[in-house]
Amino acid sequence: MSKVPMARLDRLLANLGYGSRREVNALVRAGGVVLDGVTLKDAGAKVPIVRELPTRLTISGVAVDPPAPFTLIMHKPLGVVCSHREAGRSVYELLPTRWRARMPGLSTIGRLDKDTSGLLLITDDGDLLHRVISPRAHVAKRYLATLDRPMTGEEGAIFAAGDLMLDSEDTPLAPAELEVISPTEAALTIIEGRYHQVRRMFAAVGNHVTALHRDRIGGLQLPADLAAGEWRVLDEAGGAAIFTQASGRGATDPAHP
Ligand code: URA
Repeated sequence: MSKVPMARLDRLLANLGYGSRREVNALVRAGGVVLDGVTLKDAGAKVPIVRELPTRLTISGVAVDPPAPFTLIMHKPLGVVCSHREAGRSVYELLPTRWRARMPGLSTIGRLDKDTSGLLLITDDGDLLHRVISPRAHVAKRYLATLDRPMTGEEGAIFAAGDLMLDSEDTPLAPAELEVISPTEAALTIIEGRYHQVRRMFAAVGNHVTALHRDRIGGLQLPADLAAGEWRVLDEAGGAAIFTQASGRGATDPAHP
């Protein structure tokens, strides 16, 4: 039987952003921390670090935040950026303020640009992050694009060929799969994550993307009941779904097995 990892209560709560070790100590002494219905008196008590901890531990009567490692699924709204370094409101501002003090910190798994909405994963799990964004993993990402002009009919073959070169790059894109929805709407599935890739691919065939939305990563679909700006903790089934159908039909790349 594998041993359940344990952590000191004061260290756990400090790492979750509930305050300094001193502040957390004061909270415990005031009777604000309850595990399995029992008020904890000792900030040095050991607590189990398990996924279901929020169902067992309350802080001032409210379920504790999920312990690391955890991943969020967010419906990124338009107009927010994915990086702390970019100017403007960031996706992190849509999360509880105390999460900015979490250790380990949170990062987005890949990025969506400011004018792109849709499925975004945010995690403190470095291994997961690398497994999803690694070019070798071939995790497919599907984007719904609205275009300025009707497609010519040649785009699907051009994107699938595996030899399309984007401006100022020196390696061709891996094959991508285009599903035409209407003359000016398409779903494009790509296995890479180059800078503004979808917009630049349509620009390369003489078109212009006017709206862009990501609805799928691997086999993980953006839930229909997650409105723009909303997020939730990704459950185990969701985490596994990322790695199913890792390459979209037609998006497999024989040159990058
Ligand atoms: N391609 C883009 O052009 N923008 C994104 O945000 C993601 C992929």
